Amino acid sequence: MTPDTPIDANAHTDTNPDGGRVALAFSGGLDTTVCVPLLEEEYGYGEVIGVTVDVGQPHGEFAEAEETAAALDLEHHVVDAREAFAETCLDAVQANATYQGYPLGTALARPVIAAAILDVAREQDCTALAHGCTGKGNDQLRFEAVWRDSDRDVIAPVRELGLTREFEQAYAAERDLPVEGGSGGDWSIDTNLWSRAIEGSELEAPGYVPPEDIYEWTRAPGTAGEDELVEIGFEAGRPVSVDGEATEPVELIEALNERAGTHGIGRSDVMEDRLLGLKVRENYEHPAATVLLTAHEGLEALVLTAEERSFKKRVDQRWAEKAYEGLLNAPLVDALEGFVESTQERVTGTATVKLEGGNARVVGRESPHAVYAAEAASFDTEDVDGGITQADATGVAKYHGFQSRLAKRVARNVDADRTATVADGGAAGAAGVDGVDGATTDVGGVDGSGDA
Ligand code: ARG
Repeated sequence: MTPDTPIDANAHTDTNPDGGRVALAFSGGLDTTVCVPLLEEEYGYGEVIGVTVDVGQPHGEFAEAEETAAALDLEHHVVDAREAFAETCLDAVQANATYQGYPLGTALARPVIAAAILDVAREQDCTALAHGCTGKGNDQLRFEAVWRDSDRDVIAPVRELGLTREFEQAYAAERDLPVEGGSGGDWSIDTNLWSRAIEGSELEAPGYVPPEDIYEWTRAPGTAGEDELVEIGFEAGRPVSVDGEATEPVELIEALNERAGTHGIGRSDVMEDRLLGLKVRENYEHPAATVLLTAHEGLEALVLTAEERSFKKRVDQRWAEKAYEGLLNAPLVDALEGFVESTQERVTGTATVKLEGGNARVVGRESPHAVYAAEAASFDTEDVDGGITQADATGVAKYHGFQSRLAKRVARNVDADRTATVADGGAAGAAGVDGVDGATTDVGGVDGSGDA
């Protein structure tokens, strides 16, 4: 849709609002600002209520939302959901969750925001819920997965009316709506406690090298200060302290964003596969997430068994995919979390992380649950454990790889027989069968231990 095309009133589903109230996810940006008159004029709502949910955005964004709401004469509610959101981020730490290298900040925040808006809608007797997402991204799906479980109507004006940015700008100018094209300049930015996502404009081109000024949370790694150590304390897989000092989740994440950001830690440039199949280039900053995920994995490596670690990777990956989809309420996730929780009971202790020029690296770990026996692993002792000695490994070594040696030997014999048959010009089928039999009689020779 271009600015000269009039809005097609039939383009959206008729929600028959009879002048009712609608709760709109409101940020004060261009998309959500144009939604206000559209909901009244195009959809016929009597009153729009703007809801801004605090998941750790910069303070300036609230001031902007507040001002825009006032200029629009919009009833505006601000809900503080930082604690609930921080808990979700820590669930993600327990599941070592990243999607294609992105620690999922926006994805984790959307269901929290959607739930907070639904609460306001209930309190305020709104019959409908609306968002300003386009029809191309992930967020529409994440919001609606929560809202469509309520008995309220769901409205997506930008998507339903097929609006473009150009149209929205012209529409806003025509009506004198209070928009200045967003606070982030050219880029589209989404910030919360867990990550800062930067996309749009030239950044969309996969080959475009981003200028340094897209970053706000991280210093250029080459210019970062002296390396330093940070010790993260965990209880049952959840970070609870920094350098020995007990810290609440919101403060813990904020402090680490600041501290690791000065070391240039937590930048990623991702070719991201969105839920609708679009591949998009995204840039992110997430210093605290990188440090906490690194520390947590480092501690898990100490306390979990090899098979738990390997199986958990698959569970973690599925958890992260469900988080990306905005579907952490799926029954599958309850089951995955059952597994995660049972492993996390032992993830108590500390991990020391070195913050060095753009990189966070575990350099020490301690736990009362360490699956580690100094005696057993030491090069200086002969005994392994409870009467097991080095020599006992001989039998294991003889068998190790036995089946692979056997299979390779059979394959070699079949090949040799085939070559011989071709050279003879004889009957291939019969010679092949003989070849296989020949190999089985040779097994003792394959591993060289006929008496094992
Ligand atoms: N692509 C990310 C996601 O789907 C983040 C999008 C953030 N939005 C933005 N306007 N930068 O989770």
